[in-house]
Parts: sequence; structure tokens; C-alpha cells
Amino acid sequence: MCGIVGAVAQRDIAEILVEGLRRLEYRGYDSAGLAVISNNQIARVRRVGKVSELQKALDEEPVDGSSGIAHTRWATHGEPTESNAHPHFSNERIAVVHNGIIENYENLRSELKSQGYVFASDTDTEVMAHLIERERQSSDSLLDAVLKATKLLEGAYGTVVMELDSPDKLVVARSGSPLVVGKGIGEMFIASDQLALLPVTRQFMFLEEGEVAEISRRSVKILAPSGEEVKREFEESSVQHDAGDKGQFRHFMMKEIFEQPSSISSTLEGRLANDSVIVESFGNKAPELLANAEAVQVVACGTSYHAAMVAKYWIESMVGIPCQVEIASEYRYRKTVAVPNSLFISISQSGETADTLAALRIAKEQGFMASLAICNVPGSSLVRESDMAFMTRAGAEIGVASTKAFTTQLTGLLMLATAMSQTRQTMTEAEIASIVEQLRQLPAEINEALTMDQLIEQVAEEFTEKDHCLFLGRGEQYPIAMEGALKLKEISYIHAEAYAAGELKHGPLALIDQDMPVVVVAPNNELIEKLKSNMEEVRARGGQLYVFADEACEISENSGIKLIHCSAKGSYIAPIIFTVPLQLLSYHVAVIRGTDVDQPRNLAKSVTVE
Ligand code: G6P
Repeated sequence: MCGIVGAVAQRDIAEILVEGLRRLEYRGYDSAGLAVISNNQIARVRRVGKVSELQKALDEEPVDGSSGIAHTRWATHGEPTESNAHPHFSNERIAVVHNGIIENYENLRSELKSQGYVFASDTDTEVMAHLIERERQSSDSLLDAVLKATKLLEGAYGTVVMELDSPDKLVVARSGSPLVVGKGIGEMFIASDQLALLPVTRQFMFLEEGEVAEISRRSVKILAPSGEEVKREFEESSVQHDAGDKGQFRHFMMKEIFEQPSSISSTLEGRLANDSVIVESFGNKAPELLANAEAVQVVACGTSYHAAMVAKYWIESMVGIPCQVEIASEYRYRKTVAVPNSLFISISQSGETADTLAALRIAKEQGFMASLAICNVPGSSLVRESDMAFMTRAGAEIGVASTKAFTTQLTGLLMLATAMSQTRQTMTEAEIASIVEQLRQLPAEINEALTMDQLIEQVAEEFTEKDHCLFLGRGEQYPIAMEGALKLKEISYIHAEAYAAGELKHGPLALIDQDMPVVVVAPNNELIEKLKSNMEEVRARGGQLYVFADEACEISENSGIKLIHCSAKGSYIAPIIFTVPLQLLSYHVAVIRGTDVDQPRNLAKSVTVE
């Protein structure tokens, strides 16, 4: 989704801004632009398409300046055209970049038009530019004007404002879309994600909800929504500098698939005792809360939602309490009932997904006993607003299609179910010890699963001409099948659907023919015989099966069955292991089809608008 970078420095910053945008490309966008103050005017360059198009334009016509703002836009209001790309101007003296959506923009637009403002775009953002310009006329400073203007806005924004008359300052405001300030030596930066600024600083400070700040080269003045000044220190970031580099890999997605053993090792590090999970890994109050929760409500979106669905199987079978799972965008707009003494869990890679965040805020009003965030980004809104947080430590995930974030979420959720079970003794010590051993083996087992890569690359050839694909699984492998289908559709644009295999005869069987590949996830568990029957139903109708199966399942390759052996030494970790071949399959299909693997069309990494 949209990305923001800004800088006030003493050197030319156009290159830093463009590099920052490049590092935000993974979020998904359709146009890019920047503006710098140069020779007593605001120079702006914008292009539809990739940041490389913007770079080309700058190579042809360079702009110099020591303060500037830049943006990658993911269209919401108005098509992805150059005139809709940010920065937006008002009277050639105010420039604005904005993430989020201004909901009352139509009213404000009419009002501003009637006051003589001329609009050059179809965006909601341009309203902000004119509004700030109008308020500036009766304010002592840009900071004041932004404060007044933001009081008139409804909706979500992370915004950076620049004015011609005070080139050594930027004013920023945050309400619903994250912003982080980065401190250099005698220079200051702002971005929607710290990844953008890693080449120039490691000192960061996050703005809180509702804050407005004035950023100069050496200082940051932050105002709380009450208008009171807030003091906050910069902190050293632990995010790796190379997090934005592909290394030896052709795509971030592949790099991240292969990083899974080390990401999962990080998730586990310091959180396992000899034969148990360290319950405090979920927070100081976790021993008491996990022991007493009478039910669990989980909300999430996209891939994180699939992790939540797997957690439901684990929590109900291992802990014996009800676990409800819901898509955050549904949960937030439905009249929901919180079960007394229940725990609210939100799962999110980014910790900034607008719907998940809104669901958490609603849950906090509803009387849940506590909220727990399972998240990958320290300092994100979800983490800060939850009572407890479990960091998945996957490292920065750049590919839009989530891979290592998902498997580390699953790892954390299996640890959670184990910790809950420990505190209530719903499983024997030996059973707990066996799960902990499986968790320890997980990185090695994922490494083993990754050796299937070449074989899967060959199998992928058979999918490239297909238009549709079906994924089947049972039990906790059903959400894994859903995740496999999501991966395939996201990056290869092949229409893919997942079904609980038992549902096959209630509809999807009608679609089976030789043009419909059917991918089956088949670990060796108590449902395998049922699954085999479902596979026969497909074969009998001429369907082509691609079965990822444990050798012990004794499925043989036959006409209509392509078998790919995948083993998981442990039933609890099987969903995590079987995720890997499905990731590899969708990756290779997408590469052969020549799609934009890391930044699939129309999608965004971090969905900060609803
Ligand atoms: C977007 C991303 C997905 C992600 C989903 C939820 O759709 O493309 O990869 O699963 O948002 O994001 P979250 O950060 O909340 O996990």
C-alpha cells in the first residue's frame, strides 16, 4: 500500500528519497512521485508505474534540494495517473504526501472549491493540501496550520507536509497510518516504514496515534492530540540493514521461503525450556491469563487468517476450550458477543492492517479479559495497543505474498496452544515434551522440505497453462490448502480455490475434468483414509491429482496421480512443513508465467486502508 519518505538535510536528498521508495516497493503501489524545495520553488516529478520510471525521469531531469517528500501511491480515490500521484500541491507553496483515506473529502472538496481552490486531481489527498494552505493563512506556523486542518479531517492518515516558506522543516501527522522518524547526523528523515530509511540511519522514533510533529534537521517537536508537547527518545533499530536486499535469490519471495529455517529458529529462541514452552514468552501476565481463559477469539486478515484457522484446531484439541476465528473486516462491522473470560488474539505480520487494528479496538471495548497480538513488527500499532504481544521474529518480509511470516505465526501459535495446555494440564508431560521436541526439529524439517525445490519446479510446468486449480485438505491441513490456493492466485493469477476435502461432493466435483489440476495436502494422519476416498472421487472423473503426501500414507503414483513425497516427523508440526511445498509450487508457476512475483498486480503488502 502507499509508502512515504521525507527528509530535511543539508545535502541533496532526491537519491535518498528514491532509494527509500524503492525499499517500500514491496508494499504494492501503482505510481510514484517526489517533490523537493529547490531554488525557491517546489520541484515535483511524478510517474505512473514503478519507481524505476520515476528514477528514469529524474535521470533525464535531475532535481536538487535538501528537503523533500516522496510517495508511492496505491490508488483508492482516482485512477493511477500522473495527476493523481502524490505529492499534491496547493498554491505552489504547500506540498503533501498522504497514506490512508479521508472519508469526508467530498464535503471538504465542495467547501474548498466554493472558496476558490482549484483541484488538479481526483484524490482525497488534494483536499488536505488545500485545507492546510487555507489554515496556514491564519496560522503562525505550518505546525499550527496542520494541527487545525487535521481537526477537520475524518478518516485515516499518515501525512507529511512541506512548505516553500520554511524549507528546513517538515510537519507530519499520524492518525491510523504509521509514521516513523529517523535521525541522522544533522539531518532527519520520516517514513511510513523504517525499512525505507535503513541505508541512512538506525535511530528511530515512532509517532503515536493522533500526534502531530514538526521535524527539523536536529530536532523533533511532537504534540499529543491534547496539544501538549511529548518527549520521546530515539531508539536503535534491530532490523537488519540487508533486509531489503535479495542476496543470491531472484526474488524476495524465494529468499524468504529459504529463510524459514532461520526465521523459525529465531521464533523459538529463548522460548523453550527442556520439555516445555516458557509461558512468559507471551507476556508477564501470560501464566495467569492463559490458565484462566475460558474461550479464545482470534481475528486476522489474508494469510494471517489462515494461521488463525490452524490455531483453532490446535487450541480446541490441545486445550479443550472454544476458539472462534473470524476475518477482521467481518468482525469489526458485526454485532459480536464476547464470551466472558475470553482472550482476544489478533494476528498480523505488519501490525498495521486497518481492519485487524479496528477489530482490536472494538474488542477492547467489549470486555475481553486481555488482548494478545501475534505480530512480526515491533513497535507496530497492534503491538502497542495490545495487552500482550508475541513477536514472531521472522525478520522483514518484503514479498507481498507472505511466506516466512506465516510459518513463524504458526510456530508461535503452536507454542501458544502448548503453553495454554501446560498451564491447565490438558495434556500429559510426555505429550508436551513431544510437541516441544517437534518444535525444536522444525528448522531442520523445513530445510528438508526445501530440498523438494527442483522437483516442484518441474511439476510447476504442468500448471502454467491452466486457468483454474483446486486445493484439498482435511483437518488442520484444510487452512494450509487455503493458504496454498491464496499463494497461487496472488502471484500466478491462476484462479485457485481450496475446499475441505469432505465438501468436494457438495459442489466442486462438478468442476473436475482434465483441465482442472487438484492439489492435495496429505500428511499421514487419522484422516488419510478419508482423504484417499476423496482423491478417488477426483480420479474417477478424469481429474489430475498432485498429491503432497507422506511416504507412510502408501499412496502410489498412478494414472491421474502425480505424487510428491513430503514428510513431517510429527503430527503437530505437519501443517507448517506442508506449507513449504505449496509455497514453492506457486512461486515456480508464477516465475514460469512471468508475473511480477514480489509485487503482484493490484495487491499491497500492508493494507492500511479498509
Ligand atoms: C495483505 C498481504 C497479505 C497479508 C494480509 C494481512 O493482503 O498481501 O500477505 O496476509 O495483508 O496482513 P497482516 O500484515 O495483517 O498479516
